[in-house]
Amino acid sequence: KPTAAPYVPELHTLTVLREALPSCKGCELYEHATQVVPGVGAAHAKLMLVGEQPGDKEDLEGAPFVGPAGSLLRGVMEELGIAPESVYMTNAVKHFKFVQRGKLRLHQNPRLQEINACRPWLAAELDAVKPQVILCLGASAAKSLLGSTFALMKDRGSVQESAFGKQIIATLHPSAVLRARDDASREQMRGLLKRDLQFASELAS
Ligand code: URA
Ligand code: SF4
Repeated sequence: KPTAAPYVPELHTLTVLREALPSCKGCELYEHATQVVPGVGAAHAKLMLVGEQPGDKEDLEGAPFVGPAGSLLRGVMEELGIAPESVYMTNAVKHFKFVQRGKLRLHQNPRLQEINACRPWLAAELDAVKPQVILCLGASAAKSLLGSTFALMKDRGSVQESAFGKQIIATLHPSAVLRARDDASREQMRGLLKRDLQFASELAS
């Protein structure tokens, strides 16, 4: 089974992890991506946000949540008075997965196998940052931390138990909000994301 485990250093500090991350060949996703995208933010944040994987822009810039989904997320954070640098933001999978269509690189959802392969990096980040609360953005992050059968729309917005001994909450992914079928459902989904982020942030403070 593919796994990042042999590439993850024993010492879990963000500096050490960040230095080791570019050498990961734990699954096939490093082969086509531009670069690996490490987490960013406060080294000992009380709240950690976990997305799915870098998108096109993140892959090019080497930083998480700098594309359209990131703008939506940062907009919601601003409305709630949450400074981006006060939290730690990362992804369940650290390399961009896509299919090339002409000039476009179309995002592909990571498979469970890739989510599982990359989990040792996420576990090491959790160990380094030691957040009180983790907010999973979307099903991929929730599958990584809460198990592959987690039902996002049924169990979003409430504290879940997990093997990691943290308070974990799952909510919608900002990309899912962007893909909503009409304005009304987009507003509704954005509202759920905002409510869950507010809940997570209050729980962590
Ligand atoms: N979507 C994610 O899940 N993570 C990012 O970093 C950007 C978009
Ligand atoms: Fe390693 Fe994760 Fe990249 Fe796969 S996606 S190569 S496990 S860092």
